[in-house]
This record gives sequence, structure tokens and C-alpha cells, in this order.
Amino acid sequence: PLRLILDTDPGIDDALALLLALASPEVSLEGVTTVSGNVPLEDTTRNALALLALAGREDIPVAAGAARPLVREPIHAAEVHGQHGLGRAELAEPTSAPVSQPAAVFLCERIKAAPGALTLVAVGPLTNLALAVRLVPEIAQQVREVVIMGGALRVPGNITPAAEFNIYADPEAAHIVFHAGWPLRLVSLDTTQQVGLTRTQFAPLCRPESRIGRCIDAMLAHYFENFAPRAAYERFHLHDPLALAAAFHPEMLQWESVYIDVELSGHQTPGATVAWFRRRPETPPANVLAATAVDVTGFTTFFLERLARLL
Ligand code: BDR
Ligand code: CA
Repeated sequence: PLRLILDTDPGIDDALALLLALASPEVSLEGVTTVSGNVPLEDTTRNALALLALAGREDIPVAAGAARPLVREPIHAAEVHGQHGLGRAELAEPTSAPVSQPAAVFLCERIKAAPGALTLVAVGPLTNLALAVRLVPEIAQQVREVVIMGGALRVPGNITPAAEFNIYADPEAAHIVFHAGWPLRLVSLDTTQQVGLTRTQFAPLCRPESRIGRCIDAMLAHYFENFAPRAAYERFHLHDPLALAAAFHPEMLQWESVYIDVELSGHQTPGATVAWFRRRPETPPANVLAATAVDVTGFTTFFLERLARLL
């Protein structure tokens, strides 16, 4: 199986990505690192530990990461994900604790210990990855691949007209990560906003007799009750699960090699991901393999089938 570490800010769709990893035999999840994002670090770490406990996988180490972005003030998305990040789910207080190393150190150690073997999937702000690659630059050559959920290339952003949440939350970190020279796949809003499920489509997973089914139901209840009445929000987007799946089933998406930079200085546009699909002679070489299309039915069917295995 593909050896993988998930860097995450759970977060409802983060939680679904974590469950998808646990449900997929193609993947061996060897660690979870947490970051401030959808909710503060304390909550994202507790949620990661509680979700692993719910799934009976306390054997997977959790390393807590950055509590703040590199330069800017923290921003969160509690209106979407609920006050503590998992909607209305109230999971048991975890009994296990994070490992002693901070996430950036954990990432460096694990990647150095298995050169060429580990894939990093990052579905939150990129603070931990930026710190890791600054700490030990050689990991850029030693990681198998880095797969990121973030950015908006040909579509508008979801936090400002120009920027997507994960990049906007820590643009300086994203800038470091995009220019670090490691093999990078980017799963942006261009594809993640195409994969959404309605409450009815989620129903087969919300089984009351299953602990995980009850958790999924309670997480989504927050979203659907607050947002679904507004037309544009009728579907819950599977941003992070799609990025996770892209790490081991890249054939479910189409990819284009492209040069992408992150805007740091614009007044209206911090965190914008500027993608040079039409190259000019002076355009730097491509630094990203960007997803440009997705097999919507293929992926959503795959997602529902996999999560059902956990119920
Ligand atoms: C991203 O932002 C977060 O709210 C989601 O978990 C996802 O990672 C989508 O823009
Ligand atoms: Ca996320």
C-alpha cells in the first residue's frame, strides 16, 4: 500500500478524508499532523485524536503542529465546520495524546527515515509543510509526492473572490511550499467544487446503529441545517476527500503541468493562486501538476462505497 501522512485541520471534510484513508486498503496511514485552520489547533488536534479513537485506530500517531500562520493573524471557518470543527458531533474526549515532536519535526523525521516512500497529503493551511521544508530542505528530494487541497485556478475563490481558504489562511507558507521543488499535485476548487453530495445522497452513511454513521450524521447536520437552505450550498463539497483519493487514484482526475505562484502583496488578492496555463517565454518551468477535471460520478460512488465499509 501507499504509505501516507495526512496534514489536516479537522474540519468536517477533513474528517471525511481521514475516514476515507482508514477505509482504503490501497493506503497505509502512518501519521496525522494537525494545524490551525478551520478551528484553532487545540480543536483540530483533539478532533484528529477523537476520530482515530472512534475508528479504533489509536495506533496511528498524531503530531500537533503550528498554532498560528507564519506571518498573518489566524483565521478560522467555524461557521462552516461548527464551533469545535466537527459540526454537531460530540465525540468522546480522547484518551491518547499527541507525540512529543511538533508536526514539522515529525514530518522531517518520517520522510528522512523512508526516502522515496512517503506521500504527504495536506488538506489544511500549509504552515507545517513550510516549516518542515525550511527545517530540512532535503525532504523535498526524499518525499514521494506532496498532494495539496487548495487554491482556485480558473474559478473564483471561496473566502475572497481571489483566494481559497487553505492558501488564504497562510499565503507565505503556501509560497514556500509551491517553490520548494518537491513533486506537487494540486487539487483546487476547480475540481473539488464539482464533487458535492446532497443530504439525501449522504443518507446511506448516516446509519444510527453505527458509531461512525452517527458521527457523520451529526457533523453534516450542522452544515445542512445552516447552509443547505441557500441554493449554492445544497451540496456538501468533498474538497479534502478528493485530494486524499488523488494521492492513490490519480486516474480519477485529469492533470496539467503548470507554473503556479502565490500572491502575497496584492490589496485585493492575497492568497490568490496564479496559474500560467498559457505560458509566455519568460514563464518559469512548471512546478505543479494541477487537477483540471474529475470523474464526478466515479469519485462520488467510490467515496460512498468506501465509507460504507466503516459502518
Ligand atoms: C478547504 O477549506 C477548508 O474549510 C476545508 O476543510 C478544505 O480543506 C476548502 O477551501
Ligand atoms: Ca481542510
